[in-house]
Amino acid sequence: MRTGKWEKIVLLLIFLFSSASGAFIGINIGTQMSSLPSAAEIVSILKTQQIKHVRLFDADHQMLNALSNTGIEVTVGVPNDQLLRIGESRSEAANWINKNVAAFVPATNITCIAVGNEVLTTIPNAALVLVPAMQFLQSALVAANLNFQVKVSSPQSMDMIPKHFPPSTATFNLSWNSVMYQYLQFLKNTGSSFMLNAQPYYAYAKGQGIFPLEYALFRPLDPNNQIVDPNTNFQYTNMFDAMIDAAYYSMQSLNFSNIPVTVMASGWPSLGGASEPEANIDNALAYNSNLIRHVLNGSGTPSQPTTSVSAYVHELFNEDVRPGPVSEKNWGIFASNGTAVYSLKFGHLAESSAESTGLVGVFCVANSSADSNALKKGLDWACGPGSANCTAIQQGQPCYEADNLVAIASYAYNDYYHRTQASGGSCNFGNTAMITTTDPSHGSCIFAGSSGSSTSSTEGTTPSAFGPVGALSGTSRLQFVSSEFLIAFLLTFLV
Ligand SMILES: *[C@@H]1O[C@H](CO)[C@@H](O)[C@H](O)[C@H]1NC(C)=O
Ligand SMILES: *[C@@H]1O[C@H](CO)[C@@H](O)[C@H](O)[C@H]1NC(C)=O
Ligand SMILES: *[C@@H]1O[C@H](CO)[C@@H](O)[C@H](O)[C@H]1NC(C)=O
Ligand SMILES: *[C@@H]1O[C@H](CO)[C@@H](O)[C@H](O)[C@H]1NC(C)=O
Ligand SMILES: *[C@@H]1O[C@H](CO)[C@@H](O)[C@H](O)[C@H]1NC(C)=O
Ligand SMILES: *[C@@H]1O[C@H](CO)[C@@H](O)[C@H](O)[C@H]1NC(C)=O
Ligand SMILES: *[C@@H]1O[C@H](CO)[C@@H](O)[C@H](O)[C@H]1NC(C)=O
Repeated sequence: MRTGKWEKIVLLLIFLFSSASGAFIGINIGTQMSSLPSAAEIVSILKTQQIKHVRLFDADHQMLNALSNTGIEVTVGVPNDQLLRIGESRSEAANWINKNVAAFVPATNITCIAVGNEVLTTIPNAALVLVPAMQFLQSALVAANLNFQVKVSSPQSMDMIPKHFPPSTATFNLSWNSVMYQYLQFLKNTGSSFMLNAQPYYAYAKGQGIFPLEYALFRPLDPNNQIVDPNTNFQYTNMFDAMIDAAYYSMQSLNFSNIPVTVMASGWPSLGGASEPEANIDNALAYNSNLIRHVLNGSGTPSQPTTSVSAYVHELFNEDVRPGPVSEKNWGIFASNGTAVYSLKFGHLAESSAESTGLVGVFCVANSSADSNALKKGLDWACGPGSANCTAIQQGQPCYEADNLVAIASYAYNDYYHRTQASGGSCNFGNTAMITTTDPSHGSCIFAGSSGSSTSSTEGTTPSAFGPVGALSGTSRLQFVSSEFLIAFLLTFLV
């Protein structure tokens, strides 16, 4: 059947509307800290960072007051230890809504209630009260005439999906089928979203090398070694999308469709113990920058390309009194005194152009001892799939040097690196590249990142609301562990 002109216009309007109401990035504010900044200080950080969506793990009244009249949208949480009470008593639920929601709206823009956190996997003995608690809270919202403004859901752990790759075969843990069925029916009836805590960090750390780090960090994979779901032929460029698709397919296996996913926690720790080498500042900065860019791009996952996914970065502060390994205490972008742990340019990532990475005085060049065939391969990749601007190394251009492969490859590597570093590109090229601070520019041949170059800009620092800025040290930015080329093993493992 042919689509008529009016249908096309209606489809176009639907498309415009859905992208206008597109994805957002928020941040989690956990408070297991030995010294907690005041609510006013926290809100001042949020404003400086231009953060418009937050998730609280409880319904702290000081925070809800400080967030009033800020335009910031708030998800409040029912802590796991209050779940039993609410799920067993309709009046307790009504009381909770009156005290923690109705008393604050509309001045505080509460839009969601997250009921418990990972209830089925962390406190399975409360499983039977989860959906009743959600229903009682929903009834109380209806009674207060707040049900259109405030949505009720409950964040699930990825551990609910025992095998999440390939996504097309994922299902929820069958032991929870009847609870999940009721949960999804509730979401469907109330138009709420499936709340998912999607943490590639844990999957990468547990995967013991099956998945490459690049895949977890949204970095480019070698074009010859992409990760593909063998049943659907969908190509997965990052683990985050694969996790979300696993959730969609798991819902589908219970015959539910069209329930959107909201990611309630996703991040990367900046510090870990001796056995947690992947928890470091470089990876945390790469993951969170790339996550923000990926989400704000608004494109969906391979299986649901038109459904954009919003996400909350985990998390604002390091929670120094959280139990568990060192990494558990170091997911924050700020220390408790307001010092930035690393400089994540939260509000600016949406507009930032890939070409101005701000890395002035840092260059990615070819290693002159590298094998010339490997250099040629790296050069071809940079100027081809890598989309470096190789105009200047063509014959007759300022950086052309007939027989000097090292010089030509250096120009291409450096151009690629400066274009992509902010979005996670690395200086590797099959181990034929290295970082230097010696400017290779000469005459009219100007390398990106040279102080004379037009593509460089000055590195901005993250302002801190109530303390000095913790500058990222110059050297820590320069340790890249990824490889553009050496991912030759994946499909064999994954199928
Ligand atoms: C609260 O957030 C919703 C959802 O984005 C928005 O439509 C509404 O205008 C906001 N309300 C206020 C009072 O800011
Ligand atoms: C599924 O959940 C049950 C109940 O919590 C648990 O005992 C079992 O180990 C889980 N299965 C898998 C494969 O994770
Ligand atoms: C899903 O729907 C199909 C077709 O109607 C049916 O055969 C199947 O039993 C349903 N599965 C579940 C889990 O309800
Ligand atoms: C989103 O990313 C895709 C693929 O990288 C790109 O083609 C598209 O222009 C981006 N869209 C936006 C709105 O940034
Ligand atoms: C803030 O806390 C961080 C991490 O605990 C520490 O390194 C830094 O020195 C502190 N800064 C101030 C001004 O107290
Ligand atoms: C350059 O390549 C040689 C030979 O592969 C290697 O031994 C050396 O460590 C490399 N230098 C750097 C700085 O990576
Ligand atoms: C590529 O680099 C040349 C200079 O070498 C410049 O004139 C041109 O505008 C650049 N093209 C793009 C697309 O950036």
